[in-house]
Amino acid sequence: MKRGVRGTWFDFVDDPWKHVGREMEAARFHPDGLLVIEDGIIADFGPFDEVSPRHPDLEVTQIERRLILPGFIDGHIHVPQTRVLGAFGEQLLPWLETWVFPEEMKYADREYAEEGTQRFFDNLLAAGTTTCQAFTTSSPVSTEVFFEEASRRNMRVIGGLTGIDRMGPEEFLNTPEGFYEDSKALIERFHGQGRNLYAITPRFAYGASPELMEACRRLKQEFPDCWVNTHISENPSEFYGVLRLHTDCRDYLGVYEKYDLVGPRFSGGHGVWLSNDEFRRISAHDASLTFCPCSNLFLGSGLFRLGRVTDPAFRIRLSFGTDMGGGNRFSMLSVLDEAYKVGMCNNTLLDGSVDPSREDLAEAERNKLSPYRGFWSVTLGGAEGLYLDDKVGNFMLGKEADFVVLDWEGGPKAAAWHQSLVVGPEGPATMEQAANLLFGMMMVGDDRCVDETWIMGARAYKRTRA
Ligand code: GUN
Ligand code: ZN
Repeated sequence: MKRGVRGTWFDFVDDPWKHVGREMEAARFHPDGLLVIEDGIIADFGPFDEVSPRHPDLEVTQIERRLILPGFIDGHIHVPQTRVLGAFGEQLLPWLETWVFPEEMKYADREYAEEGTQRFFDNLLAAGTTTCQAFTTSSPVSTEVFFEEASRRNMRVIGGLTGIDRMGPEEFLNTPEGFYEDSKALIERFHGQGRNLYAITPRFAYGASPELMEACRRLKQEFPDCWVNTHISENPSEFYGVLRLHTDCRDYLGVYEKYDLVGPRFSGGHGVWLSNDEFRRISAHDASLTFCPCSNLFLGSGLFRLGRVTDPAFRIRLSFGTDMGGGNRFSMLSVLDEAYKVGMCNNTLLDGSVDPSREDLAEAERNKLSPYRGFWSVTLGGAEGLYLDDKVGNFMLGKEADFVVLDWEGGPKAAAWHQSLVVGPEGPATMEQAANLLFGMMMVGDDRCVDETWIMGARAYKRTRA
């Protein structure tokens, strides 16, 4: 089946951090563009006047007064925490014990897991997120339900059984052998089926004995094309606990290195307390980190050093994630909002005003999350971070046609008047105007900016409220 969508399109062809001072070179903007989709795949794209003569008799849907971007990519999110987002008062370890493990235990029950997982995907789509890399629970049932529901919605996802064999309630824990067997069965059943991809998922080194880590190594050796997803160096109490448990490892990253897990398609969530040496090694492995600012602030974990990991001398692949429910939002627009503020706080130290010996203006410049850097990070950049950029992330021909239709006047009452500083009723005519609208959405808007979400060329979500 072939169809066209006509509207105002914005995507990226390169990394804006590589174009300091000239970030527009990394983006594409078509104020009146046409995307042609055949069987869910992008078959043609460009200015309407150029593309449409190549497709006579095309059935075209016209979308007016909206900015259309590639679907957002959430690199780190927890399906079974959909109900506990915004839980009061704790930092990571007591938060897990008090709120998270009791809720996640319910997902061993298929009926509860199905309800929670449907709500999870409804929320993702309402936030404009079309791809996620997700944690499930230690129960295979929750993982099966995740892949089944993603398949029903035809969404590109990465996920995996989330292994923990210590530091949790007894009935919630895996055994290393059980984790190996269950993971293997799930990989054989779901990995590469439709749009499903499997991540071998040790929850975190703090909750993993050497035997569980050994099971992960074995799985990665037997299924080398699987992803690996975990947490890394999120919180000081967690990080010191890891060093006490894995005494032969020099630092947090060293645990995952010891078990041969760090390389392409490895993602470590958070990385707030990583050393410069760990950053260098992650870069050399071509592995990836996920920046989760809503969570890092909500749980008080700390300020991720965005300007450090984007240093061209040891650049690290990045995706951005909500970490919902450690993050208190489903919206990647909210992630950009908080990420911008983290960069600004980092810069209070780096601009030399507090301590001139710590001044680093180049790093400070990289901390500034412009709309180009921000929206690249949640689209093409996120796809590169997750090694999915051959499939999603922008409107290159041959990629899967997932996109989000944004209303720049959506959000709080203040939004429309604010955005009228940038454009009139006719909408953006230049890339610069479009980028200013995007910055307005990330700082003033929220998921109410998401008007429609499309999966493989079919509309999967339409906003009902204005
Ligand atoms: N580390 C281990 N499990 C979790 C979790 O569920 N959320 C966060 N933020 N960190 C973790
Ligand atoms: Zn997490």
